[in-house]
Amino acid sequence: MTRITRHLDTGPSAIAEAAGLLVQGGLVAFPTETVYGLGADATNGRAVAGIYEAKGRPRFNPLIAHLASFEFAREQGAFSPAAARLAEAFWPGPLTLVVPKAATCTVSEIATAGLDSVALRVPDHGVARAILAATGRPVAAPSANRSGHVSATTAAHVAVDLDGRIDAIVDGGSTQVGVESTILSCLGDRVAMLRPGGLSREAIEKALGFALAEGPEGSGDEPLAPGMLASHYAPRAQVRLDAEGPRPGEAWLGFGGDGHGGATVTANLSTTSDLTEAAANLFGMLRALDRPGIAAIAVAPIPSHGLGEAIRDRLSRAAAER
Ligand code: TXA
Ligand code: MG
Repeated sequence: MTRITRHLDTGPSAIAEAAGLLVQGGLVAFPTETVYGLGADATNGRAVAGIYEAKGRPRFNPLIAHLASFEFAREQGAFSPAAARLAEAFWPGPLTLVVPKAATCTVSEIATAGLDSVALRVPDHGVARAILAATGRPVAAPSANRSGHVSATTAAHVAVDLDGRIDAIVDGGSTQVGVESTILSCLGDRVAMLRPGGLSREAIEKALGFALAEGPEGSGDEPLAPGMLASHYAPRAQVRLDAEGPRPGEAWLGFGGDGHGGATVTANLSTTSDLTEAAANLFGMLRALDRPGIAAIAVAPIPSHGLGEAIRDRLSRAAAER
């Protein structure tokens, strides 16, 4: 289905228009501090179904419901003491909490993929929060890219993937964090990491006072952790991780002050080896290096501490067999 995609700025009338489209069941891409999200009214099953259609996304993958505040999130989910502590420490911010659905949960079954749990997040971005406040309901929003492709960190990236398939794109410039939120499952007493992301494991463990459990609970009814599709976040070119240097015909994606052995197409995630800067640059640079004639993108070794865990996770999915 073809739609006319409106390109909106972030002024008050644009925010009101974006919220109006959402309330009417439309699909609106908007910036968050992590990546651009493709939003739909999470309480409207038809609208949520439109997200899957626009993205070409497999139905079984549940979506994150975005909310304007922790107070509102408490109506949707049941927070254990640990979950509440995390919400208080890090919301608004790049953290998603998977919690049991509350009795008052209004998120549609299609957004939760029929699970008893719901993924909730309060984003830390003025535009996202203004849209959420004006909408007055949970907004389901996966990353605003075609399914399996690299996530979008600018409105132009969103347009390349989704123009003509959605109702509007709100242009709030480049996103700050650059990788998606960290997802934690808080279903029992355990807190487990389902997806590394924009909030580091170190910061989470410090706030909790104990170490994160590994992987999903294994109760059997949880979908395998997020993005379990091994190939994900993928550019067209092949990706080769932990490379010492580029081979002929490869583009080079560096990190730190290392040389790039004569590759003609190159970029550097952070010349100063700053992992926060590298996360912010990751998806834009993968898109920029993914040019005709480039068979593969060789990527320098990235350390695995801090945001390096999320960067390595996305790169290994981009490198996975398709
Ligand atoms: O930063 C982000 O998280 C971005 C921005 C737009 O907020 N959103 C995002 O959404 O990355 P998405 O749909 O690409 O990733 C959400 C992940 C999915 O891979 C899904 O498996 C997981 O969250 N998820 C959602 N609900 C879940 C649940 N009830 N249990 C386990 N995993 C869940
Ligand atoms: Mg995504």
